[in-house]
Amino acid sequence: MMTAASQGVVRTARHEDLRAVLAIHAEHNAGHPISILTSERQAETWRRMMATHDLTVYVAEVGVELVGTATALVMPNVTYDCAPTVFLEAVVVTPRHRRQGIARAIVQRVLADANAAGCNRVQLLSHKRHATDGAHRLYTSLGFEAEAEGFRLYLQAAPRSHLASGRDHAVGTT
Ligand SMILES: CC(C)(COP(=O)(O)OP(=O)(O)OC[C@H]1O[C@@H](n2cnc3c(N)ncnc32)[C@H](O)[C@@H]1OP(=O)(O)O)[C@@H](O)C(=O)NCCC(=O)NCCS
Repeated sequence: MMTAASQGVVRTARHEDLRAVLAIHAEHNAGHPISILTSERQAETWRRMMATHDLTVYVAEVGVELVGTATALVMPNVTYDCAPTVFLEAVVVTPRHRRQGIARAIVQRVLADANAAGCNRVQLLSHKRHATDGAHRLYTSLGFEAEAEGFRLYLQAAPRSHLASGRDHAVGTT
C-alpha cells in the first residue's frame, strides 16, 4: 500500500531496495551521493529484516530515487491493555532532499500505520546532538514529547557517527 506524501511517495521497502537504502545512509554520512556495494552480511541482515513480520522499513521515493528511510518495530505488550508499542529508528533523508517534508511524510505514515494496528504509542531515541540540527524539532512538530530520559549501554564499539567523523555508511543515525 502506498501513501501519497506532499513530496514523493512513502511506501514499505522491498527486497530489491537494500542498496538504495544503504545509499541514503552513505550519502548522509558523506554529504554527497556515493555508489556502494552491499556485503553478504548486509544482504543476510536485510533478508531477515524483510522476513520479520513486526519490522517495517519505510522509504520515500521521488521519481525513481529513494531519498528517505525509517525503520519501525512493533513490540507486543501484555501491559497497556495489550496494545503494542512501536519503536522508530534510522530516520534519514538525503542532504539533497531535506526541508521538503520528506521525513515528516515518513513519520506520519508510521503514525498512521501504528494507529491502524491499535498501538499504544510510538517511541524513539534521538541523540542529544540532534537538539540543534532539526531532528528534535521534526519530532516535536509531529506531537512527540521529550518526556523520558534515554539510556544506552554499548555492547560493542560506539558507532563512528557518534565520534568526530562518521564516514562509514554502515553506522547508525540516532
Ligand atoms: C532530521 C531529518 C531526518 C529531517 O528530514 P527532512 O526531510 O529534512 O525533514 P522535513 O523537511 O520533513 O522537516 C519537518 C520539520 O522538522 C523540522 N526540521 C527539519 N530539519 C530541520 C532543520 N535543519 N532545522 C530546523 N528544523 C528542522 C522543521 O520543523 C520542519 O518543518 P518546516 O520545514 O515546515 O519548518 C534530516 O535532516 C536528516 O536525515 N538528518 C540526518 C540524520 C538524522 O539526524 N536523523 C534523525 C536521527 S534521530
